[in-house]
Formats: sequence, C-alpha cells, structure tokens
Amino acid sequence: MMWHPFLVLLLLHGASAAGDQLAAQPAPGDPANAKPAAARPQAAKWKTLSGNAPLVIARGGFSGIFPESSQFAYQFALASSLKETVLLCDLQLTKDGAGICLSDLKLDNSTTISSVFPKRDTTYSVNGQSLKGWFSVDFTTDELISNVTTIQNIFSRPSLFDGNLPVSLLQEISGFHPYQFWLNVQYDMFYKEHKLDPAKFILTASEKMDFDYISSPEIGFLKSLNGKFGKAKTKLIFRFLDADAVEPSTNQTYSSILKSLTAIKSFASGILVPKSYIWPVNKDKYLESATTLVTDAHNLGLEVHAYNFANDQPASYNYSFDPTAEYLQFIDHSDFSVDGVLTDFPSTASTAVACLAHNKDNAASNKKRPLIITRNGASGVFAGCTDLAYQQAVEDGADIIDCSVQMSKDGVAFCLDSADLVGDTTAMDSFMSRSALVPEIQKNNGIFSFDLTWSEIESLKPLLANPFSSTNLVRNPAAKNQGKFMTLAKFLDFAKTSTVSGILISIENAPYLASKKGLDIVNAVSSALINASYDKQTTQKVLIQSDDTSVLSTFKNSSSYKRVFKVGETISDASKSAVDEIKKYADAVVVSKTSLIASSNSFLTGFTAVRDKMHAANLSIYVLGLRNEFVSIPFDCFSDPLVEMATYAAGLGVDGIITEYPATVSAYFRSPCSDMEANLPFTILGVEPGSLLKEAQPEVLPPAQAPAPALDAVDIVDPPLPPVVKISETAPVAAPASSPTQPSGQPANAANAALCLLTVMLSFIYLSYQ
Ligand SMILES: *[C@@H]1O[C@H](CO)[C@@H](O)[C@H](O)[C@H]1NC(C)=O
Ligand SMILES: *[C@@H]1O[C@H](CO)[C@@H](O)[C@H](O)[C@H]1NC(C)=O
Ligand SMILES: *[C@@H]1O[C@H](CO)[C@@H](O)[C@H](O)[C@H]1NC(C)=O
Ligand SMILES: *[C@@H]1O[C@H](CO)[C@@H](O)[C@H](O)[C@H]1NC(C)=O
Ligand SMILES: *[C@@H]1O[C@H](CO)[C@@H](O)[C@H](O)[C@H]1NC(C)=O
Ligand SMILES: *[C@@H]1O[C@H](CO)[C@@H](O)[C@H](O)[C@H]1NC(C)=O
Ligand SMILES: *[C@@H]1O[C@H](CO)[C@@H](O)[C@H](O)[C@H]1NC(C)=O
Repeated sequence: MMWHPFLVLLLLHGASAAGDQLAAQPAPGDPANAKPAAARPQAAKWKTLSGNAPLVIARGGFSGIFPESSQFAYQFALASSLKETVLLCDLQLTKDGAGICLSDLKLDNSTTISSVFPKRDTTYSVNGQSLKGWFSVDFTTDELISNVTTIQNIFSRPSLFDGNLPVSLLQEISGFHPYQFWLNVQYDMFYKEHKLDPAKFILTASEKMDFDYISSPEIGFLKSLNGKFGKAKTKLIFRFLDADAVEPSTNQTYSSILKSLTAIKSFASGILVPKSYIWPVNKDKYLESATTLVTDAHNLGLEVHAYNFANDQPASYNYSFDPTAEYLQFIDHSDFSVDGVLTDFPSTASTAVACLAHNKDNAASNKKRPLIITRNGASGVFAGCTDLAYQQAVEDGADIIDCSVQMSKDGVAFCLDSADLVGDTTAMDSFMSRSALVPEIQKNNGIFSFDLTWSEIESLKPLLANPFSSTNLVRNPAAKNQGKFMTLAKFLDFAKTSTVSGILISIENAPYLASKKGLDIVNAVSSALINASYDKQTTQKVLIQSDDTSVLSTFKNSSSYKRVFKVGETISDASKSAVDEIKKYADAVVVSKTSLIASSNSFLTGFTAVRDKMHAANLSIYVLGLRNEFVSIPFDCFSDPLVEMATYAAGLGVDGIITEYPATVSAYFRSPCSDMEANLPFTILGVEPGSLLKEAQPEVLPPAQAPAPALDAVDIVDPPLPPVVKISETAPVAAPASSPTQPSGQPANAANAALCLLTVMLSFIYLSYQ
C-alpha cells in the first residue's frame, strides 16, 4: 500500500476557519507551489544576510515522524510547513550511477536492506575509518528500489510507518518541485574511490533539475564544482562537521578551517554549521554567550545555515523544552539571524519563522482566546509554588496564577501542589521519621504538611518536580532547590499587586483535614480571601477549584467567586445527570487532556464526547496536562507543544489552558497564528485525532485500548463537610496509627524504620504527577 499524496493534506486539520486555508494550500507537485507569493505575516526586518526570512530546510523531509528521505516524508514536509521550505536530499550513488536520497552512507541505518540482502554487507574504509555495513555502491538501482523500504532510524520516533515507503530516487524528490532544493554530498572521496563521481553526476543531473544549494564537508569537492554551473543560481555551501573532525581533502580539523573564513569565501557562498558553533552549550546543558560566527561570516558576505535541530532532542535547559524557543534564539536574536535552519521538524521551524519571530512585544489581543492558568506557577522552570515560580509566571504572561492550598499542623495555609511534601520539598532528607500512610489521601506513604508545623515546613528547601525524570528529561537543574514557599496570605498579596487578571485557589482533602486533623481549610481560604478583600473586588477574577462539591457550595455566597469542579479521573463522556449536577456547583470544569481527546500509544485516536457535553451546559472547560516535554506530546502533534495547543484551543475551543510553561502558552496566544480567522498564508493548525494512526500499516497497529469511563452523577456529589474536630495541642497529632500495615502501639525498631524508608523511597519514585 502506498501513501496517496492527498492523504497528506487530510491529516492536517484545524478549526473550521482553518479548513478553508488548508484547502487553499496547493498539493505538493502542483505547479502553483513552485513560485509562491513571498507574502509574510510580518514585514519586520530580518538580520539575515539577504534581509529575507531565514530558510526552513527539511532534512530528508519530515524525518521527525516519517522514515527519513521517503517520498512521504518529503511530501509531508511540503504540506505541513512554509511554502518556501527547502527540501534537502543527502545524495548517495548506486552501483549503476543513479542518485538516491538517504542521510547515512550505510543503508542499513534507515532501510530494510539488511533483511532483504542479508549476506551483502561489506567493510570499507571511509576517509580512513573502517566501516561495516550495506553500501549503495554495491547495489543496482533496481535492487534498491524494488524490494528495499525505508524505516525510522531514531528509536524514540514512531516505527508505525516503516516498511511500505520505498527508497527515493533523486529525481522523484526534485519532481515535487519544492520552492528550493538542496543537495548535500557528504562523501565525495569515498564515491570517487569506487569509480563514481558525484560532481559529474550532479552536472549531468542539473540539466534536468534545479539545485539551489549544494553542500559538502569536503573542500575538494566544492572546489571541483566551483564555476561549473555557469549562470545558474546554485549556491555552494561548505558544511562544517564536529570541531575536532578532520576535513579529508586537506587533513585540517574543521576548527582550524573555521579560523580562516575568508578562504572559504573563495569557493563557497556560505557555510552550514552545527548549531553549537553559534550558541555553545556547556557540559551542564546551559547556553553560553553566542559566538561572533554569524556576524563575522555575514561581514564577509557568507550565508550561515545551522543544523541539528529536532523537537525531540532538547539541546539546552534554557529553552524549557520548547523547540520554538530554540529557533528564535537563532533567528530572532537582537544581533543576528542565521540564514537557514536544517531540521527534522520543518513545521515547527516554519512556526518560529512565520508565527513567532518579531512578536515579543505583541499583546495577546484575541479576546476569544482561552485563559492561561498556571499549574503551581511556572513550575516547569522553577520549583512549584515558590516565589520564583510565581514571579516567572507573571513575567511570562499568565492570566491566572494558582495556589493549591495545603495546611500545616499549626493551621497555616500555604501553597504547594500536594499535601505530601515528598515530591516538592526536601522533606525526605529531614523528616523521614514523620512519614505516614494516609489512605484517605494517597496510596503511598508520604510526609504530610498537616503533620509538620509551618516553621518546620519553612525550614525545608523546595524541590523542582520532575514528572519525566524516568525519560532523562529533567527540568532546569540549576534552579532545583531555589525559591521560597509562600503562605496563602503572601500569595494573595503578591497576586494583588501583580498584573495578572485573576487567581485560582484549589482546595482538596477538606473532609479529612476537618475530621481527623482539626484543620478548617475552607475557613482558612475564605478568611484569607476576605482579609485580602478578594470577596468584593471586581478587578481580578477569583476561581475556587475543588473536586469536592461541598467545598464548592460554601463559596456560593460571594458573587466574586467563580467555581471550578475538578474531574479527578480520565473520562470519555459525561451523562446528562452528571453535567446537571456539576452545573449546580460550578461554572467550569478542569479535565485532563486525554478526557477531551483519547489517545493510545502516543497517537491520538479521537475526540471524546466531553467537550460537547460540558459546553452544551455552558460549563467552561479548563484543560490540564499540556506540557512542553516532547515525550508527553502525541506523535500526531509532531512533538510540537504549539501544535498540541492549537488542537485544544483552536480545534476544540477550550476555555482555559492549565500550564507549567506559561511562556510557551502566551507565546502562542501572542502570535497572529493563534487566531484562526486571521487567514494567514501559514498558520499553526491543530490536528485531526486518528488520522495519523489510520494511515499506518494495519498489521503493526497496537491493540486499541478500552475507552475511559463516562462520568456519572454518583461520582460527583460529595457528602456535607464534617465538623472540624477539636484536637488538643498536646495530643500526638501525627501518630502514624492510621496505617493499616502499622498497627498502633507497635514499637518502632530498626527493621520498621528501614521498611519505612524503603516505602517512602518507592512512593517517591512512583509518585504520579498527573
Ligand atoms: C524482489 O523480491 C521478489 C520476491 O521475493 C523477487 O522475485 C525479485 O527478484 C526481487 N527483486 C530484486 C530486484 O531483487
Ligand atoms: C542511524 O544514524 C543516526 C545518526 O547517526 C543514529 O542516531 C541512529 O542511532 C542510527 N540508527 C541505527 C538503527 O543504527
Ligand atoms: C591526509 O592524510 C592521509 C593519511 O595520513 C594521507 O594519505 C593524505 O595524503 C593526506 N592528504 C593531504 C591532502 O595532505
Ligand atoms: C541560560 O541559562 C543559564 C541559567 O539560568 C543562564 O545563566 C544563562 O545566561 C542562559 N544563557 C543564555 C544565553 O541566555
Ligand atoms: C490580612 O491582610 C494583611 C494586609 O494585607 C496581611 O498583612 C495579613 O497577613 C493578613 N492576615 C491573614 C490572617 O491573612
Ligand atoms: C461565605 O461562607 C464562608 C463559609 O461558610 C464564610 O466563612 C464566609 O464568611 C462567607 N463569605 C461571604 C462573603 O459571605
Ligand atoms: C447557555 O448560555 C446561553 C447564552 O448565555 C443561553 O442562551 C443558553 O440557554 C445557555 N444554555 C444552558 C444549557 O444553560
């Protein structure tokens, strides 16, 4: 089964208005695509050499999702990215002298050749290095294109499209008539040793096709082409490899060649460099100051293109896992812009160029846009609920900052994600002995705020939570323990004097705190709000969030408060009676992103009924769980947080986005591309759930997962809040007697302590961070 080019277009889908734009996009191969109008959303001046927008160069097509250099990967790059996107083909030559596109010299890296021709691997010396594998010089074109197919060669990317996309011939890719076409010749000397001459091949091919750019890391090769194209506009680009690598035709290291840019000017019009040549990253993965390379090269009249961009290979903590932030560092810097970025994810680079650059000072003007609500402040960057996380959230453009209220043993209300201090503080180091099991709150042991006094809690350091540490994606380690915790009163003071348009106060565990700990969290919140005059002001919104309808009821008395019901579990539908019940207590619901769009194995499978049911009852929907880390983003959204956001905001019309990365969300809403009515030549489209999965080979599809349950009225209504018990000051409030596994009165001993340590550590490891 082959991909049909028109399916490519069907995969992309936005709100209804976006649909019109989509239809207006010419199909790849359509002559209308060849010379698009150069109209751009912004007229701002670029600091590129030419003053034009930087190029988006697609390495092997959209290789971030599809097998690199397959026809489909190239078609998808054209369909999903700026019209001006440059297609890059890494040229390899076959035994009979044809050109194919594949990044690696060894075909086994990204094709099925090792299983089609299991015995035909060889060892060759390549620029002095011995390499074993399958080489194109040993195979005829017929052998390569009839039975060998392409496969995804990067482990973390989907393999669902492997095995039905053949190896591409150069002329097939150039036949898509991209706006510009770029040929990279990585190994000229190797092919010459095998009696194949890339330069000759290219000169012959150039009679039938246009090469806008030809790049190579071999100086000898570029010199052999220099001046051979007559009046043709082909630009020769010298590609730098790692600084310590040796350029084979001169035996100089690339770092020493870099010192004489003037010499490069004699045989090339530009350079292609690893992105770290421009923005070096230190060993801790933080960005250092930019080098002067771009400016130096521009002063000599050399173009500068940068490579190694991929959404799923985060380069530095400075970007907070937002791939568009990285592009902007290269193209929207105050001193320079590179002339092109070579990427595996051309749609994201297009977004940076067409939707985000030059927008820093835009206001998020679209009145109909969803609210940007933080989750524990900017907790993707600083430890959650600290002064630093809240300050960052305000700076980053959040509308609503949030405080999840917890209670100390001595009745101080403060902000923290959870009553269990283990995940968000250094409590494990200091208060292990206070660990307890409280089944009313969580399954695992924890060290709970209501068992520690406020001064004990204040003595702890915050801990930046890492929901994805098992995948080695760690958040901003330099700030791991920075910041101060805030009492609710301090938080309200801070919010009042800040520019936010509102606050969200979340209340959980109220019945437990009242009946077992003698702590009145509801009163603590309402009196703090009254003390800060939030009960009768109209300048800032006050959202009260709880999963407990009785808690929400008590806040019915002030018209200044908007109430938000939190749906704890993942659902796929909601009964009429459930929605009617919620409506009695709340104006809005918080639901997880998978409750709105179901997914399976990192692919979206379809919209659930939840959006329509809630909206039909005029309940606003705030979606929880959109994050920057690519591992949390379905493949359908191209590992791009803005595509996922567009899917929920423009596609589904949610009313609020709850985020740990307010900078990324506000960048999206400051962009003209977040307005689907703006009718731009390129915009950020949401995706249609299910369409990507549908196109995979049926036999490789994972089994469908059972749908999430529907929300029912019985799940919603809570019993009235119990009275607040009186607990004598001297009573041992924190006795771990509630633990069924630790009968009260059993003397603590070493074995018990060790078991306790183990359980706490395990619960820490398994701590789920929904
Ligand atoms: C491709 O595979 C088929 C079936 O195994 C075989 O008959 C054919 O000769 C192969 N083609 C080439 C070029 O190897
Ligand atoms: C193919 O090459 C890429 C880039 O060098 C590498 O990251 C990847 O692991 C290789 N894949 C396989 C299957 O060898
Ligand atoms: C580069 O080094 C190799 C091996 O040391 C040698 O054979 C070759 O002649 C050298 N080439 C140049 C241009 O110096
Ligand atoms: C990257 O982040 C580190 C740590 O926050 C900071 O010191 C550094 O200045 C940042 N680099 C750039 C180029 O902004
Ligand atoms: C009441 O408000 C004042 C002034 O904003 C503040 O200093 C004080 O801490 C607040 N008290 C409580 C109990 O919230
Ligand atoms: C609303 O009810 C709460 C709890 O019953 C109470 O503490 C608070 O004073 C009331 N607020 C207003 C504005 O009446
Ligand atoms: C929702 O609000 C609209 C406009 O305010 C109103 O016309 C409609 O009747 C409401 N629907 C429900 C189910 O409350």
